[in-house]
Amino acid sequence: MEHTEKIAFLGLGHMGAPMARRLLTAGHPLTVWNRTRARAEPLVAEGAALAGSPAGAVRDADVVITMLAGPDALTAVADAVAPELRPGTTWIEMSTVGPDAVRELAARLKDGVNLVDAPVTGSTDRAAEGTLGILAGGDTAAVDHVLARLGTVTRTGPPGSGAALKLVVNTAVIGGVGIVAEALRLAAALGLDGDTARDALRAGPLGGAVERAFADGVLFTTDLAVKDLRIATSATELPVTTTVLERLRRTTRHEPALSHADIAQAATHIIRTS
Ligand SMILES: NC(=O)c1ccc[n+]([C@@H]2O[C@H](COP(=O)([O-])OP(=O)(O)OC[C@H]3O[C@@H](n4cnc5c(N)ncnc54)[C@H](OP(=O)(O)O)[C@@H]3O)[C@@H](O)[C@H]2O)c1
Repeated sequence: MEHTEKIAFLGLGHMGAPMARRLLTAGHPLTVWNRTRARAEPLVAEGAALAGSPAGAVRDADVVITMLAGPDALTAVADAVAPELRPGTTWIEMSTVGPDAVRELAARLKDGVNLVDAPVTGSTDRAAEGTLGILAGGDTAAVDHVLARLGTVTRTGPPGSGAALKLVVNTAVIGGVGIVAEALRLAAALGLDGDTARDALRAGPLGGAVERAFADGVLFTTDLAVKDLRIATSATELPVTTTVLERLRRTTRHEPALSHADIAQAATHIIRTS
């Protein structure tokens, strides 16, 4: 089936670039923008149109997709984008920003612009495969066929509920990775064999967190994990999560390069470093 609606994709980072590529490969007319232009160039070489600004990217778009670092990036982009959108446009906000940022975004859109908050579960590997989990708040009907290219949609309820559920999921996943790392740190302190301890944990209820703590070939950076826990802990009192957040912050203070590495490397650092 031929797709005629024009999609603007803003934010071509580790997740955004493979997601945009899937839409391009599916035949959608695609305009891309990224703050650092060099990151857009591979997609332009593959056939996407390059916009010089966020406003230029969305001016003729029927569907706008954002996949940005966090709430500050979204605000910066929204300042430029919101005034340009025509009634009838759907904005699919797929970054992890939390429900407050989605509410603020909705409040600045013109009547007739439809906002869907659709953050994703799964990492860079699933972004490339089009097998992400998509937690979608709001009315997705106009863009279901677009989202289907990226993964499987779970409708979460009213606008903001996708962003809220994503925060819940990441609080558990990142917290689980932190707990697994400390349990294995304890194993080392008690003189246990690391592989035996890891296998014992893998066989228990935190098995998924063990897999994530030792995943390779994916990239969810520790600075993004810190951002997620910061948003979660500002929503309500979460003492355990606050401790995990502080642990991750301490880890990146100690080893700044870990901010830009996958959280599995922060977990290894927690296990090994005194
Ligand atoms: N990586 C994962 O496994 C994963 C999984 C699920 C959800 N997420 C979420 O998906 C989102 C994107 O993640 P990612 O891994 O793709 O991150 P990333 O590689 O760090 O990319 C972040 C994107 O945001 C842009 N950006 C940052 N600050 C900006 C600003 N002030 N103005 C405009 N653009 C700005 C970056 O532009 P530049 O290129 O110019 O820096 C880049 O395009 C995040 O919200 C993350 O939490 C990530």
